[in-house]
Amino acid sequence: IMVEKQGFKHFMLKEIYEQPGVVRTCVETYLDTTWSSDRDTNPVTLGLADDLFTDLEHVQIVACGTSWHASLVGKYLIEQLAGIPTMVQYASEFRYSPSPLTRHTLTIGVTQSGETADTLAALEMEQKRRQATEDLALAPRMLGITNRPESSLARLVPHIIDTHAGIEIGVAATKTFIAQVMAFYFLALDLAYRRQTLKPERIEQIIEELRQMPGQIEAVLESQERYIEELAHNFSETQDFIFLGRGINFPIALEGALKLKEISYIHAEGYPAGEMKHGPIALLDAKVPVVAIAMPGTVYDKVLSNAQEAKARDAQLIGVVPLNDEEAEFTFNSLLPVPPVDELLSPILTVIPLQLLAYHIAARRGLDVDQPRNLAKSVTVE
Ligand code: G6P
Repeated sequence: IMVEKQGFKHFMLKEIYEQPGVVRTCVETYLDTTWSSDRDTNPVTLGLADDLFTDLEHVQIVACGTSWHASLVGKYLIEQLAGIPTMVQYASEFRYSPSPLTRHTLTIGVTQSGETADTLAALEMEQKRRQATEDLALAPRMLGITNRPESSLARLVPHIIDTHAGIEIGVAATKTFIAQVMAFYFLALDLAYRRQTLKPERIEQIIEELRQMPGQIEAVLESQERYIEELAHNFSETQDFIFLGRGINFPIALEGALKLKEISYIHAEGYPAGEMKHGPIALLDAKVPVVAIAMPGTVYDKVLSNAQEAKARDAQLIGVVPLNDEEAEFTFNSLLPVPPVDELLSPILTVIPLQLLAYHIAARRGLDVDQPRNLAKSVTVE
């Protein structure tokens, strides 16, 4: 398949702009959008076999890189919406030091390409050691989340969620990340529906909010692009960045830092904002910009006060914040506003300005955004 840039300067920028469409496709493919709380059918249409879910007690997820970040969002959703303890492991770690076997466990491999060697090896190892036990409670239940339903992953595991993002060329993952995150919303809702951990009205509300997401992403892209391109000029000499987030936006802080590292070669660290005082705060001065994700919800005030602490060390503060929020305007030097959605849905929006920021800083530095040095689109060797 020939994929063209369609007028965009880089594939990565084109792929960032494809995200509203990707989210729309995911919602239309995997949600019954006519569902309402008085129905007794499952609103999620992933088509997964019931026996994956019978008596489920644990979920364990293995992944690498950006897929590992999507998995951390997934853990938050599965635990908070469906109440199932969930572990997320780096595949490269898990394969040599697997956790003790847990009963009635769903193992999920998340890999955009479906070809990452460590992820495939970790899944294979898990499948074999579970098959080797006589205990039925330990039998393997394997699920893959991938953008390549014809990949090696799909041959290895019996069930797949196809993320339908279309081929991604840029080495730094963007639209495949958002599609993986969408897959986890659907999986968490599916589990919540089956286990009745959410009121039907709440499920209906989340579905309605997911349906709004494509338009909201478009709004962020339209309102932010120019400003972020300009903001990027400020960082042509910057050597370090800190990204802070908490709760469901902690993985987004990690992802924002990874995007920047991958394509701009600037050192960046993502940290849970509450941990800053245990180390990273020692790094802060006027030369180290801090990007904080502060969205309304359980940790909003906490992140704002963490950001204040950084400001007191002269750090330049950039906030991914709700639109038209006075407190945020007062706290941050630069604002990357997004629509003030439900905290639970916010990662779908907060990641967008961070992708644009990384892109524009790298493009401004004249770097090869789509083919960064030392990195490969899929890592098929250990
Ligand atoms: C490589 C890519 C990353 C990607 C990681 C995992 O390092 O450069 O963008 O996140 O592999 O890839 P996967 O295909 O398993 O999601």
